[in-house]
Amino acid sequence: MTKKSRGRILLVTGGAGFIGSNFIRYWLARHPADEILNLDKLTYAGNLDNLKDVSSDRRYSFIRGDIADREAVEEVYRRKPDVVVNFAAETHVDRSIGNPDDFIRTDVWGTYVLLEAARTQGVECFIQISTDEVYGSVEEGCSREDSPLLPRNPYSASKAGADRLAYSYHATYRLPVIITRASNNFGPNQYPEKVIPLFVTNALDDQPLPLYGDGLNVRDWLYVEDHCRAVELLIDKGVPGEVYNIGGDNPLTNRELTFRILDYLGKPRELIRHVRDREGHDRRYALDSGKLEALGWSPGRDFEKQLHRTIDWYHDNRWWWEKIKSGEFKAYYREQYGKR
Ligand code: NAD
Ligand code: TYD
Repeated sequence: MTKKSRGRILLVTGGAGFIGSNFIRYWLARHPADEILNLDKLTYAGNLDNLKDVSSDRRYSFIRGDIADREAVEEVYRRKPDVVVNFAAETHVDRSIGNPDDFIRTDVWGTYVLLEAARTQGVECFIQISTDEVYGSVEEGCSREDSPLLPRNPYSASKAGADRLAYSYHATYRLPVIITRASNNFGPNQYPEKVIPLFVTNALDDQPLPLYGDGLNVRDWLYVEDHCRAVELLIDKGVPGEVYNIGGDNPLTNRELTFRILDYLGKPRELIRHVRDREGHDRRYALDSGKLEALGWSPGRDFEKQLHRTIDWYHDNRWWWEKIKSGEFKAYYREQYGKR
C-alpha cells in the first residue's frame, strides 16, 4: 500500500491548545484518510476539553508528553509521522516577562528536539509555527518574510530562535522545513489570558477590562480557521526552506477592539480600566501576506462576523471558560492585575 492510499500521519504538537485543537478538528473533518497524533504536555494552557468532540475518533490519538523530552519525542516518531506541525510553545508575552525559563526550554530547546528527531527519522514536511512577533514592533509599513527579525520580549525572542533553528535544519540538512509567521489569532477555545477571550468573558461577568497603556497599540487579527486553512495549503504547496506570513488584514487598536466587544455585548464603556502598560510593549504588528496569497490563500473578508461568532461562542460556552477562570488562571490574573 502506498502512503497516498493509506493517508498520511500528522504529528501535531501542542494540539490541546487554542490553535492546535482548532487545527486538529479542521484537519480531521477534511482529510478522512489521515491520522493525527497529538503530542501535548498539558501545561496550564493545554486542555483536553478543547478536543472532546474528536477524542473517540479512531484517526486521532493523544499522547501526553513534552517536546523537550528526547525519549518521549523519539517514542512518538517511532509511529513514523509523514508531516509534523509544531504548535507547542509557551505563548503568553506577559508570562514570558515574569518567567522566561519555560519559554527558552519549550520554544527553543523543544523545537530543537523535534527537529533532531525529524532529521534522524525523515519526514515529508515539518511546519514550524512561528509568529509575526519575531519582526518586533513595526512603526509603519508591513513586514515581509525577508524583513529583519527584531524581537523585543522573551516570548518573541524564543520564537525567533526556534524559527531560525528550523530554517538551519533546511539549509544544513535539507530537512523539508516550512516556517509560518501568523498574526494575532482569535476564535473559540483561546485561553482567557489573551485579550479577546479575557475581555469578552470579563464583560459577560460585568468585570473590568484592563486596557494596557494608552490602548493605541495595533494588532492584526486573524480568525483561527483562516490560519488552519493556510497551514493546510502550505503542507501541500509550500516550498521547503521558505517562510510564509499569514496576516488577517484586520488591523485594530486595542481601544477600538475593546469598543467593538463592549458594543456587541451591549455593555458600558465604563467597564474599561486604563492600567499600567506592559514592559517593552510592541506598538504595532503588520504583515504583508502576498507570498502566501500568490499560492491561492486569502483571509476571510468579514472580520465583524468572525468577531461576533467568537463572542457568541464564549457567551454560549461558559462551561468551558468558567472552569479555567476559577482554576490556575485566578491566581495568575490577581497577580498580573495587582502589578498594574
Ligand atoms: P496555547 O498557549 O493556547 O497552546 C500551547 C499548547 O502547547 C498547549 O496545549 C500546551 O499544553 C502545549 N505545550 C506547551 N509546552 C509544551 C511542551 N513542552 N511539550 C508539549 N506541549 C507543550 O497557544 P496557541 O495560541 O494555540 O499558539 C500555538 C502556536 O501558534 C504557538 O507556537 C504560538 O507561538 C503560535 N502563534 C500563536 C498566535 C496567537 O495569536 N495565538 C499567533 C501566531 C503564532
Ligand atoms: P495578547 O492577547 O496578550 O497578545 P500579544 O501580546 O501576543 O499581541 O495582547 C494583545 C494586545 O492587547 C496587546 O497589545 C496587549 C493588549 N492587552 C491589554 O491591553 N490588556 C490585557 O489584559 C491583555 C492580556 C492584553
